[in-house]
Amino acid sequence: MKIDGKVVIVTGASAGIGAACAAEFARAGAKLSLCARSEEGLRRAAGDQALITAGDLTEESVRRRVVERTLERFGAIDILINNAGIGLYIPSWEAPEAEVRRLMELNFFAVLGMIRLVTPHMRARRGGTIVNVGSIGGKIVLPWLTVYSASKYAVGALTEGLRMELRRDGIRTMLVCPGYVLTEFQQRSVGEVPPQMVKGRRFAITATECAASIRRGVERDARTVMTPRVGWLLVALARLLPRAVEARMARMNGTA
Ligand SMILES: NC(=O)c1ccc[n+]([C@@H]2O[C@H](COP(=O)([O-])OP(=O)(O)OC[C@H]3O[C@@H](n4cnc5c(N)ncnc54)[C@H](OP(=O)(O)O)[C@@H]3O)[C@@H](O)[C@H]2O)c1
Repeated sequence: MKIDGKVVIVTGASAGIGAACAAEFARAGAKLSLCARSEEGLRRAAGDQALITAGDLTEESVRRRVVERTLERFGAIDILINNAGIGLYIPSWEAPEAEVRRLMELNFFAVLGMIRLVTPHMRARRGGTIVNVGSIGGKIVLPWLTVYSASKYAVGALTEGLRMELRRDGIRTMLVCPGYVLTEFQQRSVGEVPPQMVKGRRFAITATECAASIRRGVERDARTVMTPRVGWLLVALARLLPRAVEARMARMNGTA
């Protein structure tokens, strides 16, 4: 899809990958509608023209407000980038249920909630692109982030299922699977810091690089964007040698 002149909603746009997407899509000529809780962060990320809606996306009323205000201001929604998400660095079996539910509310139910609101509009216009930011943790389970991985597997399944459901309607869906991106994600996540080995920044990319991959993915109507692409190698290895990869991951996690 050509981005110039398109209306793009970006969730979680006050920082990190979302803020970088706002800058990247603005440069490509998009009209932006941004949402996150921090109004100050949104103002920093938004250019002069962007519409901002501050609020907690786990609330249905906030999601509705984002979509209604976008339609009021721009009259259309061409691209939805479901990016807001949080992590949880606690073993799944001892993670407090309230934290697990909080994570699922944002990483899965808010994503589905936004989709439910924009899809009727996109169907009526017979076009649009829904981008869901998953994770490499939604392709290979990361034992230091098991619950988070579960949420990202769910986002992956949702993205693929939607693509088939909406095939006749001209709506495309794209799954983004970032590896390690240099943002405040780890600091903002709930729980303990990840194991030291996981902090190895060998394949780390910046939020700007990640946003550029997302923009290119939208332009070429990609189904999945793995960024950095070396992540595919890990996914293939995990499929070919599951026991070996599991053992290695458990060692990294300090549980083997
Ligand atoms: N960083 C990585 O290594 C990495 C790797 C793979 C996947 N990802 C995924 O990429 C996405 C973005 O992550 P990031 O690294 O950019 O994280 P980040 O720097 O922590 O940014 C998260 C964004 O989500 C917003 N947010 C959090 N809770 C919210 C809520 N309840 N309602 C509305 N907005 C909320 C935050 O803004 P406010 O605090 O202002 O609300 C912020 O704008 C997430 O889905 C994450 O799972 C990240």
